[in-house]
Amino acid sequence: MTKPLPKIIQGGMGVAVSNWKLAKAVSTHGGMGVVSGTAIDAVLIRRLESGDANGDVRRALAAFPNQETAKHILDKYFIEGGKSKSDSYSNAPKLLINASRHSNDLLILGAFVEVWLAKEGHQGQVGINFLEKIQMGTAAGILGAMLANVDYVIMGAGIPREIPRFITEISQKKTSYITVDIINGESQRITIDPAEFVDISKIEFVRPMFLAIIINDVLAAYLARDESSRPDGFIIEGPSAGGHNAPPRGKIEFDADNEPVYGPRDLANLEKMVKYGYPFWLAGGFGARGKLKDALALGAVGVQVGTLFALSNESGFTDDIRDQILGTLVDGTFEIHTDMKASPTGFPIKIVSLPGTTALPEVFAARPKLCDMGYLREPIMLKSGRVDYRCPSEPEIPYLKKDGTMEETQGRKCLCNGLFSNIGLGQHRRDGYDEAPIVTLGSDVDGCKELIKEFPDGWSAADAMDFIAG
Ligand SMILES: Cc1cc2nc3c(=O)[nH]c(=O)nc-3n(C[C@H](O)[C@H](O)[C@H](O)COP(=O)(O)O)c2cc1C
Repeated sequence: MTKPLPKIIQGGMGVAVSNWKLAKAVSTHGGMGVVSGTAIDAVLIRRLESGDANGDVRRALAAFPNQETAKHILDKYFIEGGKSKSDSYSNAPKLLINASRHSNDLLILGAFVEVWLAKEGHQGQVGINFLEKIQMGTAAGILGAMLANVDYVIMGAGIPREIPRFITEISQKKTSYITVDIINGESQRITIDPAEFVDISKIEFVRPMFLAIIINDVLAAYLARDESSRPDGFIIEGPSAGGHNAPPRGKIEFDADNEPVYGPRDLANLEKMVKYGYPFWLAGGFGARGKLKDALALGAVGVQVGTLFALSNESGFTDDIRDQILGTLVDGTFEIHTDMKASPTGFPIKIVSLPGTTALPEVFAARPKLCDMGYLREPIMLKSGRVDYRCPSEPEIPYLKKDGTMEETQGRKCLCNGLFSNIGLGQHRRDGYDEAPIVTLGSDVDGCKELIKEFPDGWSAADAMDFIAG
């Protein structure tokens, strides 16, 4: 029996802002909760090293089809009672084109645990979100999510032309691949065979639906032209959406606050979308009262909402960050900017100006530059003929040695470490430095401002859904 298309999708929000608790809350209330698959290997390690207080991660690991692997990861990382505050978290192996078995195990198990917990104890649908830009983590991450019977795979931040083929092949228990772009070099394939990780004779995969996050109808037409790249639906995200945004089309103009100016050319032609006949959802500023109705009237199946859920009680944000942001919404000091430079991906990203975060120049300047997580590193073929990996947010000297330019490093911030601090899993360094958070949200917070009046102590995911449904 095919399941109905969800009207409300809670958007994937990395790193673990849309964690399994939020996704489960949404899915049990009739929407579709989406967990983030970004850096999910490190999320798994840090939860285990924090002591897994309620035993959730261990319960999910006990359900993994290969218990030898699950036990190995548990033995290696679980710390009863949690690590001491003065210790640092262990690092996951950095993503590589030729990943080690251990690295793949962590990615598979991380995604499995997150989806399994989000789906536990109900029949609602659950999705997982990946960023196209993090190509080296995708194959193993999707396999892990499919082992937990994920209902939807959703991908943004790039052109996800390979995912429909990949999930079809994996669901048929075949070896499949994801292509990795190499700067200045020929692309290479990351191949994955499910049989290497689990006994496939005991697995029944169901092919998940695939939704591509796009900004306009042109990309929809491009992806839909061929069966191997055709998504099952599209999420059309406008420029006010939280997280990364696509840059404006054409020559970029900036306003007085140095923010990119978006115009009508950056909006999708919804009439064309309706004509194509593929299901689509609208995202970016749809987290407000009755917005679902507006989207339906425009021909959409529903909406994808991020910011309103990111600020709900169940999200992964620390209480401190959530309270601070809600406070700024109440007293009118909420400030957010679309920063063209901060993200090493090169995409614009929305950053909240919040005290204590690297959005503030003094906090940013106090951070010792280092790159120990490296999810946004890209492979590069060096002039010497060797493939190396680089991220424009890493320290300048190694970046320049990898044929980078000084200009590319300017204004870049370390998203990996900052995003982990948002969820209370930030790194503590041996020299005593604690990684500072960096918070993204959408710029349209009218809905949040209205909802906080009804729920001055904060709202639940279910409250948010009722509000959107009007
Ligand atoms: C905190 C936060 C983190 C986000 N992270 C991601 C992400 O990792 N991947 C992604 O595709 N979209 C991400 N988004 C975008 C959301 O999934 C969603 O499409 C968007 O927030 C919708 O716009 P809205 O914020 O106006 O509701 C993020 C949004 C927020 C608020």
